Amino acid sequence: MRACPSTRAAIQLLNLVATDATAQVSFIDGEVVYKGQVIRELKEWDWSSKLAKIGVQRIEFIPPVQREDFDGFLSDVHERLTQAAIDTAEARQMGRPSIRFGAIGVRGAETETAVTIATATIAYSLREEAEAIAWIHEEVEGAGSLPLLEAETVVRSLSLAMHSESQMLLPLLQLKEFDQYTTTHSSNVSVLAMALSEQLGLGPKEVREFGVAGLLHDLGKVRIPKDILTKPGAFTDSERALMRRHPVDGAKMILEREKRLDTAAVVAYEHHIMLNGGGYPTFKFPRDCHYASKLVHVCDVYDALCTNRPYREAWHSEMALAYLEEKAGHEFDADIVTAFAATARNSSFQRVVLEETSADQSPPATARPPSP
Ligand SMILES: [Fe+2]
Ligand SMILES: [Fe+2]
Repeated sequence: MRACPSTRAAIQLLNLVATDATAQVSFIDGEVVYKGQVIRELKEWDWSSKLAKIGVQRIEFIPPVQREDFDGFLSDVHERLTQAAIDTAEARQMGRPSIRFGAIGVRGAETETAVTIATATIAYSLREEAEAIAWIHEEVEGAGSLPLLEAETVVRSLSLAMHSESQMLLPLLQLKEFDQYTTTHSSNVSVLAMALSEQLGLGPKEVREFGVAGLLHDLGKVRIPKDILTKPGAFTDSERALMRRHPVDGAKMILEREKRLDTAAVVAYEHHIMLNGGGYPTFKFPRDCHYASKLVHVCDVYDALCTNRPYREAWHSEMALAYLEEKAGHEFDADIVTAFAATARNSSFQRVVLEETSADQSPPATARPPSP
């Protein structure tokens, strides 16, 4: 099975540390340099250019270095870039005894964390994030595990992209091939859910939690056969019933694999339930859904409307916002829609067309993206 890119990078660097008592790694021109040699395996590692651009040109590893230290280090860098936009528990633990970093040539305890972060302007391809999302889905489907750490790393990285400029940026993936739909949609709903949570004044822990819930909201779709997901025509009754199982399946899969993701499980279960009781799963009595579910529901529908389908072009943002505003108070929570519209109108969009990844496969020519 393919390894997750962030895991692969971590493993390679940790292997390096294991063979060298005091490894020093430098990032020069997008290359990872160790003992004067370029490490070819890490040439495509996005983080090396991200680190170099914010002034982290050198990292020293002081054994023993655990995987948690490495992830924590990336979290520290993330906080420096976002200037505490997402203040994770791990990120608060500044200064890891086993990892030092700074500019090339800077030595000593006093300067090792004196990295100056000016305005960070980083062009994101979101390629690594997309690969990690595709890998998470494969893990859930194949190995039956839910890699929480990778999911949180993706969410942190997306948040980093959102805060890379002074104005809130919405880095949204644009569908190029149908098989990318689950990946692009999951990433977009996560970004939108975090932006909306921030607009609503939620705390950093909840912003991250809702970002993970957005990322995993359609996880139950891994149980739906590809030929049904990609069916160009109308569904039969049994196919529609199968499609409508994904909230229940997703919630079960999340809870069975990772008990700490209870909010994500609730969101997976409730994200198609409307304020007026419509949608699915259906209930005899009205159900007051979790706040996170109402929030993800709005982001979910918005992203689906703004995606190309064979029978219609993707809607423009304003058109999708008008749809949400028209249904506010009936299908969607009115306050959440108001906040979402403000977020969308006050943010700048960065639409990224995903380049070929190893997750891509040739789609049927007339395939259509599924419903949200
Ligand atoms: Fe969805
Ligand atoms: Fe869904």
